This record gives sequence, structure tokens and C-alpha cells, in this order.
Amino acid sequence: MNILITGGSGYLGQFLVHGLAEQGYTVHYTYGSRQLASAPAGVVAHKVDLATGEGLAQAFEQTPFHAVVNCAAISQPALCETEPDKARAVNVPSFLVDCLLRQEQARGGLRALLVHISTDQVFDGSRALWKEEEAGRPVNVYGKSKLEAEEHILARLPEPHPVAVLRSSIIYGPPAPDPVPRPLFLQFVASAVSNPDKPTAFFADEYRSPVHVQDLCRLTQLLIAAHGQKLEAQQQPQGQGAAAAVVPRKAAEALAPGELAAVAARRHRVYNAGGPERLSRVDMARQVADCLGCGHGSIESVPSASVARGVVSPPDISMDISRLQTDLGFRPAAFRDAIRDILLPPAGK
Ligand SMILES: NC(=O)c1ccc[n+]([C@@H]2O[C@H](COP(=O)([O-])OP(=O)(O)OC[C@H]3O[C@@H](n4cnc5c(N)ncnc54)[C@H](OP(=O)(O)O)[C@@H]3O)[C@@H](O)[C@H]2O)c1
Repeated sequence: MNILITGGSGYLGQFLVHGLAEQGYTVHYTYGSRQLASAPAGVVAHKVDLATGEGLAQAFEQTPFHAVVNCAAISQPALCETEPDKARAVNVPSFLVDCLLRQEQARGGLRALLVHISTDQVFDGSRALWKEEEAGRPVNVYGKSKLEAEEHILARLPEPHPVAVLRSSIIYGPPAPDPVPRPLFLQFVASAVSNPDKPTAFFADEYRSPVHVQDLCRLTQLLIAAHGQKLEAQQQPQGQGAAAAVVPRKAAEALAPGELAAVAARRHRVYNAGGPERLSRVDMARQVADCLGCGHGSIESVPSASVARGVVSPPDISMDISRLQTDLGFRPAAFRDAIRDILLPPAGK
């Protein structure tokens, strides 16, 4: 199976590029400015400008894609405020949807699965534990562009186009194989709470449902494998020429029995893909400090209104993830457990 990761040079994108290549998929990725030095052998890089679409159509002309994971975005809310037009041009993936529709016409009806990575910032933050159907009224340019992206995709790729919108919360995990040009959430918190000389302010009234990068990868892998099996079953005996899809054996073996059945029978197109908890930023900092055994002395609990950030940040965008659990049977890791493995990896890992 041929998989395209847009924004493969970004934080989440890199884990997907490495993870899917490791499972035996043929992986292509797009980058804007930073081609990956760490890309495994056989992975194909495409330089694109997603604000103009430049380079994207060529990638689709060269290769039939069975699944596309759209990770590319201007993902920093403050940057979106200063460059709203560019943020909208990149974050609303109109050129990508054009390519998917053209591919379907040009390649005998080949419909690629689109896994689109969205955000909890599509919610306005006025209360806790949002459900999927409650999205709307985002409070900043980033959230507005991401909500428009969801609406654009769902309108232009209606059923039976295979689409999964995954709304992520703060993504945490180990450093990416290639460095990314911004501070990483967990590593920033770990460094701050373990510095006894300088207290760091954490917001007591801003709630999120942080999610482990490996959970997002695993969920995406499940969706791709389930789609691949569907394509395999639909293939004529002689196959669809160059578009024949086969789920790699290693990817199939990585699945627990029955795991794929729930994903293959999914009833929804939009999922809150956060972690299982509602945590304030102070809660997260305390859990990181507990994990590192360094006490809470460097954690200063403050209201979010006490710091000017140049962007409105929604107070409570914790998410209810029961759809993820009941419809897909997917259970992401708790923050406290996952950070232990990342910050204190067992010997030999
Ligand atoms: N990180 C989080 O905590 C978080 C939370 C919720 C949702 N999300 C969503 O999750 C997805 C992945 O986030 P991330 O943090 O991994 O993103 P990231 O590290 O900021 O990476 C963004 C990617 O988009 C590419 N890109 C940006 N502008 C481009 C352009 N004009 N043309 C081509 N490529 C362009 C970048 O390419 P180059 O770097 O090569 O230029 C990079 O590969 C995003 O959709 C984001 O909105 C992230």
C-alpha cells in the first residue's frame, strides 16, 4: 500500500513516516522547508508548498495513493494570528482534496482514505469535556482555519468517501528523529519543573486532554490497515493495475485479534482523539514533577489571564473521547503512565 503523509517533516508526521515505513508500507511524505535526514531507506520525499498547491499534483501523478494522512498545518496559534491568510491557505487543504478527487477519476475509481488531523481548538473552551457534534465558534484564527478545514473535507468528500477526522489535543512524546523548530511540550515542562532556581508559571484554569504521539500513530495505523483490507477485498482477481493494495504482513501481525473489526465497522467520520483525562496545565506539570521526583517547588500556579500571549486561548477544551472508545474500541494511554515511559524509559529501550 502506498501512503502519503503531508507534513511528514513535522512532529507527528515524522513518527508516522517512521512507524508506517517500519510496518512495511510504501511511504511518501511532503515537506515545506525541512527534508528529513532521518527518513528510512525507500521513503520518498516531495517538496511542496501547500499554500499554493505547488508540487502536490506531481506527487499524485507519479504514484497512486491508497491512504493519505494530512498532518501539514501552520500549527502554532500565535503564528496564525500574524499571518491569517497564509494559515487559512495551508490549513484548509483544498489542493489536497482536488488531488484526491482527480486521482479517483484518473485511476479507475481509486478512493484513498483521508485521515485528517484536526484539533481541540475547534471548540470554544467555555466548558468541559466536549463531544464531537458540539464543535463550532473557535476563538482564534488557528481554530477557525482548522474548523473550516474539517467542513471543507466533509463537504467535498461526502460518504462513501473514506474520511476520518481526528481531533487531537496537545501531542506529547519523545523528541522526533529530526529536530523540530519549536519547543516540545513535554520536554519544556520537564526542564521547567526540574529547574530549582527559576519557578515557571503554569495555568491552573486551562484544561486539555493531552495525547501520546504513539497513540495517534497507532490509531492512524489501525484506520489505514482497515481501509487496506477493504481495498484488498474489492480488488478484481487481476487487480487494479498499479493501484493494487496489500496490507503489509508486519502491519497485519501488529494488530491484536478483533482489533481491526471494530475500526472496519466504524460508524463515524469525526473523532475526538485526545487522551483519556481532563488536566489543567498545572496538573500536567505536577504529574511530570512527580514522575521525575523533583517536587512541585518550581511550579507556579497562575490564572491564564495573567499572561499576554498575543492570541486568545480557549480555557477548557478537554474532550469526551467515548466515541473513540465505543465505536473504535480504542483506548489511549493515561498521561501519568505514558510520560513515565518517555521520561524514564526502561533500561535497554
Ligand atoms: N502539536 C500539537 O500539540 C497539536 C495539537 C492539536 C492538533 N495538532 C495538529 O496536528 C497536526 C500535526 O501537528 P505537528 O505539531 O506535528 O505539526 P508541525 O510540527 O508544526 O509540522 C507542520 C508540518 O506542516 C508543514 N507545512 C507547514 N506549512 C507548509 C507549507 N506552506 N507547505 C508545505 N508544508 C507546510 C511543515 O513542513 P516544514 O516544516 O518542512 O516546512 C511540517 O511538516 C497539525 O495538523 C496540527 O494542527 C497538533
